[in-house]
Amino acid sequence: MCGSIAPIEKICDLADKYGAITFLDEVHAVGMYGPHGAGVAEHLNYDIYASQDTPNPASIKGTVMDRVDIITGTLGKAYGCVGGYIAGSAAMVDTVAA
Ligand SMILES: Cc1ncc(COP(=O)(O)O)c(C=O)c1O
Repeated sequence: MCGSIAPIEKICDLADKYGAITFLDEVHAVGMYGPHGAGVAEHLNYDIYASQDTPNPASIKGTVMDRVDIITGTLGKAYGCVGGYIAGSAAMVDTVAA
């Protein structure tokens, strides 16, 4: 909320090293950061995501947004609606929703 941004890439590196799952709360960032408003993870690879409206899986491989296992956001702040979401691999989302 104060505008500071965690070293997300370094945290992903640590998670890779120790086999941890990463979770990124973009609630205060969706609608604010990134070329499509997806949040800080999208913003950190701004040029890659700005160049395409529907991300091509091959071209986003290894980006911060691709590396984080679970991303959550809300529609109740910058978007001014109700609701929220989680995003991740199909297997991860199915596990959380089960
Ligand atoms: C960091 C953070 N995550 C998640 C939420 C939950 O947001 P919401 O209830 O709008 O989905 C909030 C709400 O203020 C928040 O500050």
